[in-house]
Amino acid sequence: MIRVRFLSADGETVSEVDAPAGSRLLDVAQANGQPLEGTCEGAMACSTCHVIVSAEDFARLPPASEEEDDLLDFAFHVTRTSRLACQVAVPEGALTVQMPGGAVNLDR
Ligand code: FES
Repeated sequence: MIRVRFLSADGETVSEVDAPAGSRLLDVAQANGQPLEGTCEGAMACSTCHVIVSAEDFARLPPASEEEDDLLDFAFHVTRTSRLACQVAVPEGALTVQMPGGAVNLDR
């Protein structure tokens, strides 16, 4: 099991859950009450599953596809470590993500 840390948009609330490596991050987030809509359920048509990945963990993820990068252009509060949770598999090790829109930026 992999420890996944979810930070609220303001960085104040931290929720830690364990999930199997390879799990779809959107599923882990929704199963644990995180405020990600994921309206299209991974059909790459909404960008409502946008999360900001910690810089360290971002570097360990496989790169986003061109389609994901294009869709991120429609998300709010995008940073250089933004990803769509429906396209991210929980990697070995650990994973920390923040809900977008907060004052705290994991990329700093
Ligand atoms: S759930 Fe719609 S793009 Fe991820």
